[in-house]
Amino acid sequence: MAEENEMVVTPWEVSGEIDYDRLIEKFGTEPITDPLLERIKKFTGELHLQLRRRIFFSHRDLDLILDMYEAGRKFVLYTGRGPSGPVHIGHIVPWIFTKYLQDKFDAKLYFQMTDDEKFLIHPEFTLRKAVDWTYDNALDVAAIGFDPKKTFIISDVNNIKILYSLAVKIARHITVSTVKAVFGFEDSSNIGIVFFPALQAAPCFIESMATGEKVPCLIPAAIDQDPYWRIARDVAPKLEYYKPAQIHCKFIPGLGKGGKMSASMPETCIFMTDPPEVAERKIWNAFTGGKPTAREQRIEGGDPTICTIFQYFSLLFEEDDKALSELSSKCRSGEILCGDCKEKLSERVKRFLTEHQRRREKARNIIDQYFIDDRVPSRI
Ligand code: TYM
Repeated sequence: MAEENEMVVTPWEVSGEIDYDRLIEKFGTEPITDPLLERIKKFTGELHLQLRRRIFFSHRDLDLILDMYEAGRKFVLYTGRGPSGPVHIGHIVPWIFTKYLQDKFDAKLYFQMTDDEKFLIHPEFTLRKAVDWTYDNALDVAAIGFDPKKTFIISDVNNIKILYSLAVKIARHITVSTVKAVFGFEDSSNIGIVFFPALQAAPCFIESMATGEKVPCLIPAAIDQDPYWRIARDVAPKLEYYKPAQIHCKFIPGLGKGGKMSASMPETCIFMTDPPEVAERKIWNAFTGGKPTAREQRIEGGDPTICTIFQYFSLLFEEDDKALSELSSKCRSGEILCGDCKEKLSERVKRFLTEHQRRREKARNIIDQYFIDDRVPSRI
């Protein structure tokens, strides 16, 4: 068991105080530097809020992806979801960024739904339930606005034919001792989950397999998924593919004190299907950087650096950098109180959810177009 507050970041557990600089060192990734941002801007014209505000903070081989793009080579994007329940705002933050990349680089996107993984790690889950969540969560993916002609959602359970030939080729190069060391599996782990890392690695190479050419792949995701990419990168050259590149984001916090947004704490988590007034209630109960009384706050000011409400403005709900910095100064000086910020955030979140839910409902009519079926020719 990890000591209280010790940093733990695995695909299945994120806890403790997260030190992102230490994670870069520990995982052996590269920081996103100012010169790299400038380079991205050359291609995109403007920097997405999530780059400007360093929500995406680390990468592997992003520079190589840009080198190849500059030389006229296209790359594909790959991201995913473990469908174990409703999607929350934390999940969609990297998806919004992925859509920006799809638009700016005109890239295909492979989107994996690991219904098998969720079945394998949750003893109480039925396979049926996991697959049902795949189709439910796919509506949230579609509501983000990905281009249906360029986006391929893969259910591991239902679209295994696309993945399996790649997964076995990958699996042959991974030993049990490697996955034990990387993921902490034990002798008591079920053999399905021991094989699963080969399945999560497979979509990195679908485009290469389908076209018979080496196609670079870029994976935007939070850094918890990184262990999978270490394995995929080790195996890639053995299969004569490019090592998949990554761009990693930080964890979007929940509305409570500390900790990432997690469905296991529903009161501090805004689900994309929450009725707007439910989200509003959660926001009114959120942890802020305010003082115990309005009087104290007017005199001493608040602390936006620990305030979840301020973080939500920064992550998603205040696009304008100047307005954000004004909000921070007014909080510090005591000019505005937590109630003012909560009210403003509630309004924006309610509007955002209403719009997302409208698009989500509309997506029901076209969701089949997003699933992969036989649109990818298989060259096995
Ligand atoms: P899952 O369902 O745990 O998470 C889906 C995506 O959301 C990211 N994420 C977060 N990002 C910011 N803040 C948070 N609080 C937060 N919580 C989760 C995750 O990093 C992920 O990007 N095994 C994967 C599914 C998967 C996948 C992939 C993910 C398959 N292939 C390729 C990313 C890329 C999973 O269970 O994700």
